[in-house]
Amino acid sequence: MDLPFELIRILTKANRIAVLTGAGVSQESGLRTFRDAQSGLWTQYKPEDLASPDAFARDPKLVWDWYAWRREAIKCVRPNAGHYALVEMEKKIDGFTLITQNVDGLHRMAGSKNILELHGNILRVRCSECGGFTESWGDDTESVPLCGKCNGKLRPDVVWFGESLPREELEMAVNASRTCRVFFSIGTSGIVQPAAALAHAARNNGAVLVEINPETTPLTPKVDFAFHGKSGEILPALVNEVWQKTST
Ligand code: APR
Repeated sequence: MDLPFELIRILTKANRIAVLTGAGVSQESGLRTFRDAQSGLWTQYKPEDLASPDAFARDPKLVWDWYAWRREAIKCVRPNAGHYALVEMEKKIDGFTLITQNVDGLHRMAGSKNILELHGNILRVRCSECGGFTESWGDDTESVPLCGKCNGKLRPDVVWFGESLPREELEMAVNASRTCRVFFSIGTSGIVQPAAALAHAARNNGAVLVEINPETTPLTPKVDFAFHGKSGEILPALVNEVWQKTST
């Protein structure tokens, strides 16, 4: 892949890089995105029926089962070359921060270290009353499992629509975006806030913006370098071109 020389020059000099990822990064692992016209989950299911506190109050079993179904799907897949390329990038850059909207845990499984999970992690479960986490829960198919401490209903440790993001992770994500020299937006439609505002925070602080996405997004007109393709193909080539070739 022929990378613009200017981007190679910028990346080889950069000591602070922030990367924001979305569902598109896990698409080549076999996980569906949310808004892809054909296969997006939200084309088949209504987020307001499944991914909100009201939905859980209305029909906790329906919500629990939907996340249990997604959890089973995630257990059947593995990180792809895009995830692993970001692990390599992290090894090359002291100031590297991976900010993800994904709840699938594939970045961590690939070996990424400095990860901020803005929307939580579907593999974690906590009590909807006392907030306590639990490692194991019965798979009683009749009702939603209950918390061993307070008998509250268990729920996935993800951020539902209308809920606030984890404060510490968000503060660290904003800080990493404001202080990076290069900001990558990869596999995200860039429409869900506050994650979608991070690229603009980076831009307002003079960072170079790079987008990797087969489709154009609202961010595309504002980026310095746009790669219209799959992250599992572009990221390994980019990491190889910038850091492997230049280090030999
Ligand atoms: N490589 C890179 N990008 C891809 C690929 C791929 N192989 N396949 C699809 N994409 C792009 C799509 O073009 C789309 O722009 O990934 C993007 C996925 O967008 P969404 O489905 O909207 O997912 P995301 O941006 O992560 O959604 C944000 O919304 O539903 C909530 O909480 C959920 O975290 C999620 C948030």
